[in-house]
Amino acid sequence: MSNSSRPGRLEGKNAIITGAAGGIGLETAILFVREGANVLMSDISPPALEKAIEKVRSIFPSLTTKLEIVKCDVSSEKDVEAVVSHLESWGGVDIMYNNAGIMHADDADAIETPEKIWDLTHNINVKGVWFGSKHAVLSMRKHGKRKGSIINTASVVAMVGSATPQLAYTASKGAVLAMTRELAIVHAREGIRFNALCPAPLK
Ligand SMILES: NC(=O)c1ccc[n+]([C@@H]2O[C@H](COP(=O)([O-])OP(=O)(O)OC[C@H]3O[C@@H](n4cnc5c(N)ncnc54)[C@H](O)[C@@H]3O)[C@@H](O)[C@H]2O)c1
Repeated sequence: MSNSSRPGRLEGKNAIITGAAGGIGLETAILFVREGANVLMSDISPPALEKAIEKVRSIFPSLTTKLEIVKCDVSSEKDVEAVVSHLESWGGVDIMYNNAGIMHADDADAIETPEKIWDLTHNINVKGVWFGSKHAVLSMRKHGKRKGSIINTASVVAMVGSATPQLAYTASKGAVLAMTRELAIVHAREGIRFNALCPAPLK
């Protein structure tokens, strides 16, 4: 069922978006809803999620599709598994958007970056994408999907050098891009597409 005046391109598809409480994740939720998808918005911040779902509902007052929120820290495999399980009763995952990511204020150059910031950044930006990819593939297989789409957010810094020191972030996004390339090849034969987005700074 379309949520706009024309047929949606995602009608009947079940989508999860991580980091959906703000920024790119929230805008993507609006776009996916407009295109007719059932959308589960997840984020580490429940208060921000509440505000975000209100915003989406205010744009689509006569929503004809499913729209729900659930807390999830993508660096926790248990959380990611629970988010994916949430879609069991919807018929499994068709689209997984691994969007959540951080660039910490203490991220710096090779000399100044604290190890704990390196680890935190990689736990969220890299392991989070791995966990999201893994559990989305398992859901697609379980539900016999013959095609699926998994989208991972890398960054332009995965491809070109940054003049602003942010070493942990840059390394993490390079890992997301490389990981996505391998996942795309490995899972192509089962109809699962993997793509990485590499945005330049948006704000
Ligand atoms: N905005 C840009 O200029 C830009 C450029 C290139 C890439 N990116 C990437 O795009 C993605 C989204 O960026 P954005 O600018 O919209 O960011 P944002 O900070 O506006 O939103 C990120 C969301 O992720 C959530 N989040 C943080 N840690 C989390 C965790 N552990 N588990 C789940 N959710 C968590 C935050 O609560 C927030 O709602 C990120 O991966 C970012 O690195 C952004």
